[in-house]
Amino acid sequence: MQPWQFVCVADIQPGSPKSFRYNPSWIKNWQQAKEQILGISPELLLVCGDLTRDGSIHRYELEEMHAELSSLPFPVHLVPGNMDTGNKHTDRPGLHRGPDQCTDLELNVTSEQLQQFASVFGPLWWSFDYKGVRFSGFADVVVNSGLPEEAEFWRWAEEQAKRSKDVLYHVWIMHYPLFLDRPDEPSWDIERHYYEWYFSIDQPGRARLLDLFKATGADLVLSGHVHCHRVRYAEGIRFEIVPATSFAQWADRWPDGDPTLGFMLYTVSERGLEGSLIPLARTYDLPGYGPGGHPAPHARDYSLAWEKGGDPNEV
Ligand SMILES: [Fe+2]
Repeated sequence: MQPWQFVCVADIQPGSPKSFRYNPSWIKNWQQAKEQILGISPELLLVCGDLTRDGSIHRYELEEMHAELSSLPFPVHLVPGNMDTGNKHTDRPGLHRGPDQCTDLELNVTSEQLQQFASVFGPLWWSFDYKGVRFSGFADVVVNSGLPEEAEFWRWAEEQAKRSKDVLYHVWIMHYPLFLDRPDEPSWDIERHYYEWYFSIDQPGRARLLDLFKATGADLVLSGHVHCHRVRYAEGIRFEIVPATSFAQWADRWPDGDPTLGFMLYTVSERGLEGSLIPLARTYDLPGYGPGGHPAPHARDYSLAWEKGGDPNEV
């Protein structure tokens, strides 16, 4: 086998100056990542979700990123993140952030949000073979949601488990890490361990996904969402959280977590899938505007926008 390379990025979320909030650093950081990726010239690019800052609210953010990624000179295969659709489901309000922020219940992903993403980027789950590697990806936010899309996903997943692995390696991509430390850790309690809950997948979907990865001969499962690079192994599978290009989070959660901004470069050969973190050669810290978190609709002030025409409720 002739060695070849692919790149995986996550959490680009550049935002838009038409939005109620915008940080120009994040688009500059993406442009820096893009320049470095173009210099490497990989055969394909994977994106582990959060392509947008508020694509769940603004279709134009999805469309702008679709145009951006379509302009690259190699194929791009991606899955949505929670900022592109909506969050994983909870049946409890979650964090009490105050009157200007959504509750977690209000952030539960909907069919409309999933279909909006699919109408711009295509199928919510996919699988293809390329030069000895099977690549599969899926909108993991449907897991444990009970939405009609979840039933469709599990039907597709069963078909994948029946396929023979007539390739050397199988790489899966998703947005949420399947687990934080061990697959048998508890489903985290949204009220007592909010960030653990926010950054992982609950049971029973977690165990079912692990069975899927085992049944399909997964070698590498890539996710994003945390904005901190980390590798864990379970059942002989490498689970890797890909670094963000936009901004770092949770740097103090693990002694072996790496909050460096950058992306992963993988070299495929008969010796294996060798990965290395490529740091951004330059990062930006520029002033922006607007609130963080998940602002409630009444707290989205589009009069702050540097460019007008971004309020989806404007007539
Ligand atoms: Fe995310």
